[in-house]
Amino acid sequence: MDERFLLMIPGPTFSEQSTLLSLARVTRSHISGEFEDVLRNALEVLKKLLNTDGEVIVMPGSGTSAMEFSVANFVRPGYRVLNLVSGYFGEYFVQATRARGGYSIQARTKVGLGFRGDEVRELVERENVSVVTVQHVETSNGVVNHVSQIGGALRSSGEVLIVDAVASLGGMEVNMRDWGIDVCFAGSQKALAIPPGLGIVGLSKRAVEMLESGESELFFFNGRKWLSMMRNVKNYFSTLPVNMIYALSESLRKISTEGFEKRYLRHKVMAEAVRQGIEALGLSIVADKDFRSDTVTAVWLPSNVNFQDLSREMLNRNIVIAGGLGELAGKIFRIGHMGVVNANDVASTLAALERSLVKVGYPVKLGAGVSAAQEVLARHNF
Ligand SMILES: Cc1ncc(COP(=O)(O)O)c(C=O)c1O
Repeated sequence: MDERFLLMIPGPTFSEQSTLLSLARVTRSHISGEFEDVLRNALEVLKKLLNTDGEVIVMPGSGTSAMEFSVANFVRPGYRVLNLVSGYFGEYFVQATRARGGYSIQARTKVGLGFRGDEVRELVERENVSVVTVQHVETSNGVVNHVSQIGGALRSSGEVLIVDAVASLGGMEVNMRDWGIDVCFAGSQKALAIPPGLGIVGLSKRAVEMLESGESELFFFNGRKWLSMMRNVKNYFSTLPVNMIYALSESLRKISTEGFEKRYLRHKVMAEAVRQGIEALGLSIVADKDFRSDTVTAVWLPSNVNFQDLSREMLNRNIVIAGGLGELAGKIFRIGHMGVVNANDVASTLAALERSLVKVGYPVKLGAGVSAAQEVLARHNF
């Protein structure tokens, strides 16, 4: 397959050449002025992308380490934590809460449904929790939770809201300030279109104050040490991933050039084109209509098709798709449409999917999915 393939999984996603080449720049000292400028710039753009009036921390790692960092710094042993679980990655929060010694109270949705605000308000009052966790986009099933409503429901009572934006930041609007999010984290490898290797944590003003006011027994994940190094790289604590931050900076430059609103619109249109294409092939989308993300679409596999066969046929056609995780393994397939995804990627993926489905014994009318997607793409001038 070599280099001519499309990575249509929900992360890692395709990185553009200039982003990859920036990894190959000569490594500067992690405490040099040149590097500090690059980092400072990246943090400023991330603050805008997250819409936070607080601060942002960038660290080596991934979505999971950024999650553990967030939970470790805002949950203390014995804290009562409401984990809103709408899929596989929601369970990560349960584990991270317990690993920290927190008391996890879980609310779970049926597969394909997400959380809105009302039920969360009720739960928080009944369970007397001090922290609430939720995914913005639950990548395992393509569900988007209504985080603005959840934040609105908590606004008057002061619980700390921790949001996993691993599969949304850079592809869908995230608004920490207006939605009432205290801590919001992501990884580099999804809609930000950078290779895996970075964890990103946005903090609200209140979250920064909380970090600064308490003592912490944490070592590597000690939020105060990270904040101090972000403010001045000379406050060395652990070597920053200099070249990954070059790549971050380059990708954020491109994101700014495209414009946040235009980027979100592109994701919205690509998502709609994928969904129309899928449904025109007679396939069903896992996420309910009110909870469909713009970054990933999960699709129920027809009963006579197994994922190994379908993904092999797609790979033969140079397109990589993802399977299900946990309880959905073997039952669904997933298409990631985030980062630098474009209309040609969407059309090619649907075209290859049609031929692959025919090959594995699920006859579809060739062109039906592509045609439905084309209507959406053309309507929006792509
Ligand atoms: C919503 C969500 N949270 C957390 C994670 C874990 O992130 P990582 O694999 O980067 O550690 C993922 C990974 O796909 C994810 O999609």
